[in-house]
Amino acid sequence: MMSCPIWITNFKTYEQCVGKKALELAKIHEKVALETGVSIGIAVNAFDLFRVAQEVKIPFFAQHCDPVDYGAHTGHLLAQSIKKTGAIGTLLNHSERRLSFADLQDSEVCARKASLTRVVCAEDPQEIEKFAWLNPDFLAFEPPELIGSSTASVSTSKPESIAESVSLSRGIPVLVGAGIQSVADVKIALELGASGFLVASAITKAEDPEATLRELVSAF
Ligand code: G3P
Repeated sequence: MMSCPIWITNFKTYEQCVGKKALELAKIHEKVALETGVSIGIAVNAFDLFRVAQEVKIPFFAQHCDPVDYGAHTGHLLAQSIKKTGAIGTLLNHSERRLSFADLQDSEVCARKASLTRVVCAEDPQEIEKFAWLNPDFLAFEPPELIGSSTASVSTSKPESIAESVSLSRGIPVLVGAGIQSVADVKIALELGASGFLVASAITKAEDPEATLRELVSAF
């Protein structure tokens, strides 16, 4: 398990973050993690899991895991197969890959059975409270309307919701994401009780991802 506070960059399916470019960005994350000692991970698309596993030693996550076990489930992402790539865990219920609550429960169980670290994403404090009962390893609060924003962040726009999410999480570490892009955003969230960050644009769209990552995790 990663030690808090943690940083996870979500590569999503950005063109600059898939295939060989995923590997380049993964190596940048590994270099910053080794040099700063910060607990840094990445979430990569399913087809890059093995590629990343061969080249870097930092924790990496799948972006989704389907609610299926071994069997006749064509086209699904199987938790056991994710584990066999060397991934330590998986995101679940990201705003861009939402699940019904029933499927979220089943996916969480499948991921738990495969000994994957589960990061369950929630869109508001009420979902944090509801999903905490699934007892994942991490919860991630990400208001969807702020995802990808370059002018506002969850820290500056919804500080009270960060604090409320932390209070409703039943002690489960809460990561925050959506528009995180400055040292101030990181410091505000940590002061409100966040246990880490789930970030995409600030790093994946940066002119210099390494410099930006170093700057943002320097606030840890
Ligand atoms: O999973 C993290 C992501 O949804 C946050 O997106 O681009 O606002 O950092 P972004």
